[in-house]
Parts: sequence; C-alpha cells; structure tokens
Amino acid sequence: MSTEKKTSWTEVLKTHCPGLEISTEAAVLESHGCDWTRFRKPDPSAVVFPRNAEDVSNLVKVAQERRIALVPSGGRTGLSGGAVADAGEVVVSFDRMRRIIDFNAVDRTLTVEAGVVTQAVQEYALQKGLYYPVSFASEGSSQIGGNISTNAGGIRVLRYGLTRERVAGLKVVDGRGELLECNAGLVKNASGYDLRHLFIGSEGTLGLVVEATLWLVDPPKPSRVMLLAVTGLEGMMDVFRRFNDSLVLTAFEFLSDSAMRYVRQGHDLPAPMDTESPFYVVLEFECAEAVTEDLALQCFEQCLEAGSVDDGVISQSEAQAADLWRYREGVSEAITAFTPYKNDLSVRVSEVPAYLQDLDQLVKSRYPDFEVLWYGHAGDGNLHMNILKPGAMAVEEFEQICGRVNPEVFSLTRVHRGSISAEHGIGLLKKPYLSYTRTEADIARMRGIKAVFDPMNILNPGKLLD
Ligand code: MLT
Ligand code: ZN
Repeated sequence: MSTEKKTSWTEVLKTHCPGLEISTEAAVLESHGCDWTRFRKPDPSAVVFPRNAEDVSNLVKVAQERRIALVPSGGRTGLSGGAVADAGEVVVSFDRMRRIIDFNAVDRTLTVEAGVVTQAVQEYALQKGLYYPVSFASEGSSQIGGNISTNAGGIRVLRYGLTRERVAGLKVVDGRGELLECNAGLVKNASGYDLRHLFIGSEGTLGLVVEATLWLVDPPKPSRVMLLAVTGLEGMMDVFRRFNDSLVLTAFEFLSDSAMRYVRQGHDLPAPMDTESPFYVVLEFECAEAVTEDLALQCFEQCLEAGSVDDGVISQSEAQAADLWRYREGVSEAITAFTPYKNDLSVRVSEVPAYLQDLDQLVKSRYPDFEVLWYGHAGDGNLHMNILKPGAMAVEEFEQICGRVNPEVFSLTRVHRGSISAEHGIGLLKKPYLSYTRTEADIARMRGIKAVFDPMNILNPGKLLD
C-alpha cells in the first residue's frame, strides 16, 4: 500500500476517533503487525489502542465508512498469520483492555475484557478456588479475545474441551460497528441462532471480541504425569486405549524422537530415560488415591507385555511433573529458530495411526532433504507436523517448496476425513487450502455470513476467505 494511503487512513482516524491512542512508531508497527508466523513481513499503517467497547465501536464505524481495513491483534501468538497486517491495514490492539470485570461465584463465571492474558484468567480462577482449564505453552502472552477468535485448544482438550466450551457469553463489535451481546452467561437459551458460536473461531473476520464471560470449573484433582517410550504408532494408540479406559486422563500428548532431540538440545534437558524410541507419550491422569497410581502402573505393565512401550517414568511430585511436561511443552519454542513450516492437522483419534503412517511415508518421499518432526495432542487427534528450514535456504524458497507438497498432504488428510487446521486456524497461510476441508457449499455459506456481519469487508480482510 502506498505511503500516502497509509497516512490518509491514520489522519482519518486521528480526526474522527478523538482520544483514540494511535501509534505509527516503527517498533510498534513491527511488533504489532505480525504474529508468531515468520513467513510474512509486517506492514501496517498504524496500531490503535482502544480503551473500551465504545472506542472499538466508534473505530469500526469510521473504518466502515472510509473502508479502512482492520486487523485485530491479541497476544500475537498465532501460527497461521491470522494477526498479520502485511497490506497496510490498521492493527487494533487490545493491550489497553485488560480489566477483570466480574466474578460470579454462583454462576462460576468470570467476565473479562478481550486483552486479559490467559494466564491471568487461570490465576484469578485459582484465587477463587476454581479453575480455567484451557492451557497451552503460550498462555503467558496469549489474550482471551485471541483465544476465542481462534477457538484455542492446547493440552487439556481431552478432559475439558476447547475454548468454545468455556464461553458463556460474548460482547462483540461487528463490522457495522454495532455492539452485540451474545448469550449473557445463560446455561440454557433456546431463543434462536446462537451467534456466540459463530464468532468463536471466526478469526476476527466477523467481529471484534471486546468482552467475554467464561465458565470456570472445579479445581483439578491431584494428578500424575508419565513419560513413556512407545514402540510405534499402533503402540501409541494401544497405550491411549488402555490408559483412557482405566483412568481419567487429563492429557495425552506425543512427540517424535527428532522432536525429543530438539527439545533436549534447545532447553538443555537430560535424557528422560535410558531407552530411545521412535515416539514418546506424555500423559497426565487424575490421581487422588494410591490405588489409582497402582492402576496406572498396571496399565503400564500391560503395555510392556503387549509390546507397545519399552520404558517409562512417572512423576512423584509436582516438580517432577513439571519437569516431564517440559519435554512436550518446550518443543515449539526449541524449534522456532529453525523457521518451521507448520501443519496443524486433525483426524478422529482412532484414525491417528493409519493417518500418521501414510503421512510419514508421503513426507519422507517429498521432503527427503528436510527434517520433519512430529508432536501434538494425540488424545484428541491433533497432530503438528513441523518441517524445519535448512539453514542456508531462503525463507521464500522454503515456503514455496512446502506449498508444493501441501496439496498432497491435504488430499491425504481428506482421504482420512480430517481437517487441515485443528487449532491454529486458517489465517493467511492455510487459506489457499480451505477447500480440502470445507466443501464449496460450506465456503459459499461462510461468505454469506461474512457479508451479513461485515458488509464492507473491513474486518481482517483476506484472512480465512478471500
Ligand atoms: C503446541 O501444541 O505445542 C502448539 O500448538 C504450538 C505448535 O504447534 O508449535
Ligand atoms: Zn498444539
């Protein structure tokens, strides 16, 4: 976009949104114009910092009238380019909307502004004797508005579900600048279309979340963590079935041997056990009594006998549990320096071994010179396939090569009736492949919905849909 147009958009906002904080400082444009993806260069016109829902509504009304493109920006920890402003857009940051508005002990709800950081919600809930169970490695910087816009998942989906299950109510400013209040915290509400669920996971293309009411749950029972060396893909799901049938699993995660190598190297971690294996599982289960631990050890013995596992360790303290979690939670950060090309795939849990087997063969033949590593949430069918960029290769060339293999990966995903995005969203990077997961009819309906909520196409234009 031309510098003149960028300047004119900024001037319009300065004139018509009095009191709105606007920054055009280079460092702010750079930091707020992108998320954690490294395949696009940030190039926003300005970054604005509304302080409340009214500011957001005024801003959107002006933007609608003047056709100013807005990109909502939370903690910017996304991995599909959903919060990237690379075409002169105005970034809307929620950094000044961090108020905790209300806690209701009877309803067990917490109402917060969109910019409240996930970890702050978790900590607040604990202070009140309750628990906010959505948890993932970037929870220290991701914001609730972003979590809702991407329907964030993480490591405890198996037990507690996705962000969607936690949203009791939403206030959203749509593309017409109107403040919509969706569901108001009701458990039961059979009064027509539930707009709340349209906004959840819509990646900021239908509206800007300004406030959310979240359902909290009972604090978790004491738990134990096990790290197991599994002998192969079939073995991994055998382990899942045996443990899931006997215990209350709160997480069932996996990583490949190469992911284990990188996480150990990146975080200077010791070998967790003597045995080396093609895959490792990190599982967590509720364990309030000694008898439950015995049950877990019996499951482990059965897996050993069945040849599904070779070795394993179990935590005996919270500190040990945290140490075991680092092998899984530290992978993403450990590989960041290698500019990974990320695929965030999902299939039904029972389909994981067959799908992974097929996929592994495909990528070995198509990426013979690249290092491919796997990790993810095997217990909910979500697999992260990360292709590491060879050091000397330009980012553009690397992305092009990965882009050429994508249709084959996604065709295979379609054969296994899976999705090309489980929890990272479509954003910019997966947009060309949406039709591998959604039918023509689906996409046409989505466009229709977009036109209702955002008739001028000013909200995160070019993300998810063209
Ligand atoms: C994870 O499961 O670690 C996150 O989704 C981040 C990633 O995929 O790198
Ligand atoms: Zn994940």
